[in-house]
Amino acid sequence: MSETAGKPERRPRVFSGIQPSGTMHLGNYLGAIRNWVAMQETHDCVYCAVDLHAITVRQKRAELRRGTIDLVNLMLASGVDPDRSIVIVQSHVPQHSELAWILNTITYMGELRRMTQFKDKTAGAEGESIGVGLFDYPVLMAADILLYRADAVPVGEDQKQHVELTRDLAERFNNAFGKTFVVPEPIIRGKGARVMSLDDPTKKMSKSGGSEAGYIAIMDTPDVIRRKVKRAVTDSGTEVRPGPDKPALSNLLDIYSSLSGDTVDHLVERYSGKGYAQFKADLGEVIVAALEPIQERIRELEADKDATLKVLARGAEMATSVAERTMTRVRERVGLVPRPE
Ligand code: TYM
Repeated sequence: MSETAGKPERRPRVFSGIQPSGTMHLGNYLGAIRNWVAMQETHDCVYCAVDLHAITVRQKRAELRRGTIDLVNLMLASGVDPDRSIVIVQSHVPQHSELAWILNTITYMGELRRMTQFKDKTAGAEGESIGVGLFDYPVLMAADILLYRADAVPVGEDQKQHVELTRDLAERFNNAFGKTFVVPEPIIRGKGARVMSLDDPTKKMSKSGGSEAGYIAIMDTPDVIRRKVKRAVTDSGTEVRPGPDKPALSNLLDIYSSLSGDTVDHLVERYSGKGYAQFKADLGEVIVAALEPIQERIRELEADKDATLKVLARGAEMATSVAERTMTRVRERVGLVPRPE
């Protein structure tokens, strides 16, 4: 570690999270986890399974538990390295909820009502039976990020608005109570930032809503992957090229390019005059090849459950010490009496 005036230089910090609800899919991998892995080279990272976010929609107890461990295994299998990064389950560090409460006191109803994801999830029906947790969801997300004084937040395009709210809340708190929080930047990588559904390229690939044919699950078998790609909707015509008139092909080319490293231009050239069938057959193989090593590593991790729990125990301990330092400062700034020793 390089030193400045005897003080170790602070590497910029990253925080990001994924909900452990439903099936993890290629969108989560390309939009988030793959960038998480890369950012470990340059940043100190905290990566989180956000179980308290997941329960804003009713979950089955056994599925949530399993999904949480599965998600942590996916992070580890994809290359998140617990010797370099802090890996946690959100509910293991109660400071997340505590900070969310304090941030609630400076958040406006109007700004939460404007959140696109809230509007989508409630289909505009802000009625009697919409849970307060769903409405308040972005404030907990802001707390996640601000607690670790993160500089950067790698997310897919759909989370950008939530990171912008986080920036507003950080600034508002700093103005009201004195500089406490770092104002974070969203990091959205162009390619893979918005993977669309295979059966409807106007919708994002998603685990909630949408049919199974629309997404590639990380644990899909090679045959299922090949079949889903083969059946993916295409646009009219036969040319393999992107464009506003070709939303389906644009998406498939983006996935291909993200996984193989070929540029889209190069792919267009390679498939010129070859038609959709060949392109889709090859894309199926590219996805299979990318996911197979991850699947294998997940199976190894599943065979050694204690190893994953140890990672989480160590992560919770390290995260708590950072989080508690921030909270001590926050409580003091707000005027809460420190708990007597
Ligand atoms: P979640 O669980 O819906 O998604 C996790 C990550 O995957 C990205 N993603 C996609 N990227 C590209 N194409 C898609 N089709 C696609 N679907 C999902 C998301 O953008 C996200 O980066 N609120 C967050 C979780 C969260 C969080 C945080 C994120 C809670 N606290 C703090 C960052 C920082 C969510 O629901 O993501």
